[in-house]
This record gives sequence, structure tokens and C-alpha cells, in this order.
Amino acid sequence: MKHIVIRGGHRLEGVLPVQGAKNSVLPILAATILHPGTTVLRGCPRLSDVEASIRILRHLGCDAQWQGEELVVDASSVSRWDVPDHLMREMRSSVIFLGAILARLGKAEMSYPGGCELGPRPIDLHLSALRKLGAAVEEKGGRLCCEAAALEGREIALSLPSVGATENAMLAACGARGETVIVNAAREPEIVDLQNFLRSMGCTVRGAGSSTICVAGGQLTKDCIHTVMPDRIVAATYLSAAAAAGGEVELTHVDYRHLSTVTAALHEAGCRVIGGEGRILLRSDGALKAISAVRTAPYPGFPTDAQAILMAALLKSRGTTVFVENMFDNRYRHVDELCRMGADISVADRVAVVTGVPRLSGATVRCTDLRGGAALMVAGVSAEGETCIEDIHHICRGYADPVGDLVALGADIRWEER
Ligand code: EPZ
Repeated sequence: MKHIVIRGGHRLEGVLPVQGAKNSVLPILAATILHPGTTVLRGCPRLSDVEASIRILRHLGCDAQWQGEELVVDASSVSRWDVPDHLMREMRSSVIFLGAILARLGKAEMSYPGGCELGPRPIDLHLSALRKLGAAVEEKGGRLCCEAAALEGREIALSLPSVGATENAMLAACGARGETVIVNAAREPEIVDLQNFLRSMGCTVRGAGSSTICVAGGQLTKDCIHTVMPDRIVAATYLSAAAAAGGEVELTHVDYRHLSTVTAALHEAGCRVIGGEGRILLRSDGALKAISAVRTAPYPGFPTDAQAILMAALLKSRGTTVFVENMFDNRYRHVDELCRMGADISVADRVAVVTGVPRLSGATVRCTDLRGGAALMVAGVSAEGETCIEDIHHICRGYADPVGDLVALGADIRWEER
């Protein structure tokens, strides 16, 4: 069994380019089936979630191949409209294929995506958006069966700015007749990247990044090349590791504006953070101070995906920091593992109170989910002694080379078979 082993206590120094964004490339991979031709993706991160999406594309009839560092998808021969159960179970966010398959083939079928480590993951907003566009959606026997002789552009008002529901609506709307307006759309940068991809494929989409997105359906699509945007949560991870361990780290191939709530928190904790064109520099003496309450919210609020990561950076800070997790029901599963390393964290419902301790001790800990695993790496680089992280498959879902990246920044970290 593969583990990650970290020996803490080293300052982090160095320059590192940030990988492509998981949460951008997954909807873009689904969107490739909108075009009966070839798409070339550059900067696509090699993640287990990306490999799962490739398996779905191939099942649907696409040819998807890595050619060097580029991922090339030929969706000329998409013939199947079902996502098999075993592929859905690999990655619940495969629900993002629903809108694109429906737009291309007029029908789509998949097993109901269950919950995940973060708790129940409802998709009611996805389904109501597709129904609004004219799809008949049946939920029977744990399967979703969608059918639409023709999708019609409509106004879709989302009761919540759901990222996935916004993306599914955008992709389905590309196959609809007439214009679709999505109101109360999610404003995440990954939505803007999806819009940019769709535009390069010939679709007419505007408004991404705002709460209102307009899609003109039925456009003629064309072959295209797209470079995936940088991963702002991976960037937040390595900045938080440098903040906790102390040092000076510069990240390149990153848009500092995409993680301004995270860098503001690190600045408040005592780090020097300088954002420039395509880069972020962070200096830290490793002696952080507690900060004002961190409340997760839809973008541009503090990202829920960085909650565990920032919490790990503040475990030895002077004082007490309150976290409020407003996005998911069960997103404090990393707390018990951090407490095994000597952290002082108490949780009541959506609130976690972190009281700084003088030191953390390396321990054997277990990943509970993707970002909880990232938090263990952040805690490990600032702990005394050795930390062994188990169940690292969670981390590999979102980090292409976490060991290589942290070694490049001077951390004593390695893969180990045990
Ligand atoms: C995306 O998930 C991301 N995943 C998540 O990142 C991220 O945490 C989340 O957005 C919020 O930013 C991908 O992009 C693949 P939502 P998504 O729909 O789309 C509720 C990571 O670590 N909701 O914006 O599933 C939902 O329960 C992952 O990279 C409904 O009630 O998130 C949640 O409370 C974890 N009904 C809230 O909305 C729906 O139909 C936000 O969920 C849909 C969502």
C-alpha cells in the first residue's frame, strides 16, 4: 500500500508552477462531446479523476488519448448515452456529463450519483434545470433517465449558485434551440474557464463570472485547442504549507485574483503575500497568528475547498480562529486526524474552533477526503518528526504530483510502500 511520508521542520523555499485545475478540466472534458470532432487540451492535470473521465468518454464512443502532455479527444463517434454504474461510482461528479450527453444525443442515462465523504450531494438543481429546458427526467431504481426530443432555450433560475448545476445547464443549453439565461449562476473562475472553452469550440456563451449567464444554443462547433486554467486550490495548498513551515515560496502559472480570500487570510496570519501577473510570492517566518472568523461561501467568498487547508496552516498560530463551514454538511472529517498530531480543534455542527498549540507531532494519519488529505500534508510539513499519510488515493484525485511539488519546494517528503 502506498503512503506519503513527511519529515517536518524544513523551511520551504523555491519556485513552482501550479498544475491545471481539476474543477475546470472535469466539466471541460464533459463538454468535449458537444463537438463531433477533435479537441486538444493543454495543461490538463494527470489526476485519477481525469482518468475516470477519460474512461467515461471512451465508453461513450470517443477516442481520448494522451499525446505527450496534451490530452486529445475525438468525439466524432459518440454513440452511447449511458454512463455505467461502475464509472459513476468512481467519481460522483460524473453527473456533469448529463447535460452534455443530452445536448449531443437527446437522451442520457446514469446511476444516481450518491453522496460522498462530504455528505449528501443532492442534484435537484441539476435536474430541475434540465427539465426547464424540456427534458423528461425519470428517477427510477437508482437510475436517472433523461430524454428530450428537442431542448428549448429558457430562463433557468437556480435557487442556489450551484457550480455543478450551472455547468450542467450551460452544457445542455448549448444543445437547445434559442437562448438560455441562467440566473443566480455560480461565479467560480472554473465557470469562466468553461465559457472560454465553449467559445473556442464555437458556442456563444457570455456572462460567466457573473450571476447571469446567457447561452445561444445550436451553434456550429469546431475543432479547438484549450489550455486549462491553473488550480487555485492546489495553489492555496502550497502557500498554506509554506505559511505553516516558514520560508519563501513563489508560485507561477497562477492567477492571484482567484484565491484572494485565501491570501488575505494568510496575510492576516502574518505572512507577506505579493500577487503579480501570473505569480504569487509568499514569505513566512512560520510563527503565525490566529485570524478573524473564516466563513466558507460561494465564490468570491472563502472557498470551502480551502477550509481544511487553511485550518492546517493555523494549528500552531497564536490565539484562536473560528471556522464556519456553510457549504457542506460533513466537511470536518480531517479534524480528528489533525488532533492525532496534537492539534486543538473543537467542532460543533458547522463551527470548528482552532486553538493554536506550541507544536505538532508527526503521526500516522488517514486521508478522509481530497482536501482533508491536502490538509494533512500542510500539517505534516510543520510538525516535528515523521508523518505517515495513508489512503492517499483521495489526494491523487486532485493533486498530480504532490510529493514532487513539495520536494521542489524543499520539503522532506516521499512516497513509501508499506
Ligand atoms: C463543486 O462541487 C466542486 N467540485 C467542489 O470541489 C466544490 O467544493 C463545490 O463546487 C463548491 O465550490 C467540482 O467542481 C468537480 P455545488 P459541486 O453544486 O458542483 C448544494 C473538491 O474538493 N446543492 O456548488 O457539487 C450542495 O449540497 C470538490 O475539489 C444542492 O442542494 O458543488 C452544496 O451544499 C469538493 N442541490 C452546495 O449546493 C444541487 O442540485 C454547493 O454545491 C446542487 C448542489
